Parts: sequence; C-alpha cells; structure tokens
Amino acid sequence: MSDLNKIVLKIISSGKGILAADESNGTMTKRLEAVNVKSNPENRLAFRETLFSSECMKECIGGVILYDETINQKTSLGKPIPDLISETGAIPGIKVDTGVKNLANSSKEKITEGLDGLRERLKKYYELGARFTKWRGVYSISNEYPSKLAIHTNAHALARYSALVQESKMVPIIEPEVLMDGDHSIDICFKKTSEVIKKCFEELILNKVDLSGIILKPNMILPGSQSKNKIAGEEISKKTLECLENSVPNEVPGIAFLSGGQSEIEASENLNLINKNNRTKFIMTYSYGRALQQSALKTWSKNTKDIESTQNTFNHRAKMCSLAAQGKWSINLEYK
Ligand code: G3H
Repeated sequence: MSDLNKIVLKIISSGKGILAADESNGTMTKRLEAVNVKSNPENRLAFRETLFSSECMKECIGGVILYDETINQKTSLGKPIPDLISETGAIPGIKVDTGVKNLANSSKEKITEGLDGLRERLKKYYELGARFTKWRGVYSISNEYPSKLAIHTNAHALARYSALVQESKMVPIIEPEVLMDGDHSIDICFKKTSEVIKKCFEELILNKVDLSGIILKPNMILPGSQSKNKIAGEEISKKTLECLENSVPNEVPGIAFLSGGQSEIEASENLNLINKNNRTKFIMTYSYGRALQQSALKTWSKNTKDIESTQNTFNHRAKMCSLAAQGKWSINLEYK
C-alpha cells in the first residue's frame, strides 16, 4: 500500500467523510451575510474553529478542506488551525485552485485557474501540515454545454494539478462538478457527467497519476434544480452508481460526493441509498460543504457566543452523514 493510498483510506474509511470548509472569502461572505453576520477574518475563523473543535470530528470527519486564509490562522489560544484539526485525528487539506474564469472561445463556460506557481505553493502548504488538496472544475448543462472544449480543458487542468500534488506527497481530490442549475432531466445529467468523468480519467492516466492515491469528488446524478420531475432517491442512487461504475477505473479507492445545493436531508438520504445499493468496490462517502454546515451556521448566527448549541447542531449533521456513508441512516433519526 503506497503512502498516498494510506492517506486516502485514513480520510474516507470507517464511515468518515470530509468537511469542505474551503469557501473562498467571497463565497463565505455571501454565506455569512445571508445570516446577518459581518464577514471578516475574525468571524470566519470563529465559526470554523467552533466546528473544528466539535466532538464529531473524531468519529465522523477524516479530513477538512481549508481555504488559504484559514490554514494560516491560529485559534484564540494561539494554536495553528492545522494542529487543531490533526489533534482530532482528522487530516488537514487545502483548496489550491484559484477560482474560475470565463473560458476563451466559449465564454459562457468556465475554466479553473491556479496551475502557475502551484509546485511552490504546494511546498508551503505541506509545511503548514496539509496532506491532501482540492481542485474544482465546474461545468454547466444546457443544449450546447458542457462543450467538448470545456470538458477537455478542465480535465487537462485537473490532471496536471493532480500530478503536481502527488509529486508533493499529497493526495489530490479531483472535483469535476456538473452543476444542478437548469431544468434538464436526470438522464441528461447522467450522460454529461459520464462524459466529464471519463475525460478526466483519460487525462489523469496520460499524466501518469497514481489512481490509488486520489479521491474523486463528483456530483450525484440528479435532475436539474428547476426540473419539474420529482425523482425518487432509489433512482438517483442507481443512476449515480451506474455512472460511476462505468466511468471510474477500479484502482480508485474512494468517491466523496459534493452536496451541490441539495438540502441536508436530501444529501444524507441519497448518500445512504447509494451505500445500500453499492455493489462496487469504491468507498462512497461525503465531502460536503453546505450539507454539513448550513444548520450549524444558522444556529451560530443567532448567538455567536453559544458554542455548545452550534456544536450540537454540527455533531448531529456529521453523525447523520456518517451513518449515510455506512448505509445506516434513517429519516427517523432526524430531528422532527
Ligand atoms: O467546492 C465545493 C465544496 O467543496 C462542496 O460544497 O457540498 O456545498 O457543494 P457543497
């Protein structure tokens, strides 16, 4: 077993998943302002420190994805944030892409940037304690999109990023996110996501990336968020599994889904069904941002000094996700 494979398994085995707390300052400002909290470095740190000090970190969270600001911050008692995370048994990770820009010659689509100077930034993040990284490519669905150009260029960037990360002795999370926006059917999502993931692996193999030392972070197969067709969780889970079985090489140890705008309950229910129906050898778990933090952020915003209530809310959500990652979640376990 390679060192990278060991890191992967430590992050996603035994019902553990990933807390994606890597919102850029821009995104975090939107999230904080939506609950009437001022967005500044102190408040962003206070919320995140509250989560990282919660009880569920030991049992449910195998890795935390940080943003550049947070990995450089210290707790109120002067402890570096990566140390706070490591002490819970979880592994600190870092988002290393620098965000999306319009794609030249297909300007309604996006390309993710951040390859220039990446090797040097990775060295710095390793020294700060990171042992895994994340890069997100985004694709939208419409009649013409995602275009072959967007599928190819984003896959190429994800593969070059992954090769550099493994060279730096860290595990790359590869996140090709086909967005939920639109009124497309679940079958269109299946077709486009399959194309996107297959192209990613074509490029990863070309770049000689060790597939046993990566984590794939895809979207689930869902109808567009404006689609009128309500699709049962059973079908979502079956289509998601079929897509991944057909597109992901067997050497890949695990898949950690993004929540992508699903509610907390939907994200737990769908992951639970995926695990109940999983006949593949892939570990299927969570790498949720909103579906792990939404309720906790609401609780915290009501009284930022009430650490206990915020942590209780987060502990509950993380426990639900962890049960779902083992196919043991049930709606009866949710608060009424
Ligand atoms: O890049 C997005 C995050 O890593 C996952 O966030 O679960 O809210 O989609 P989400």
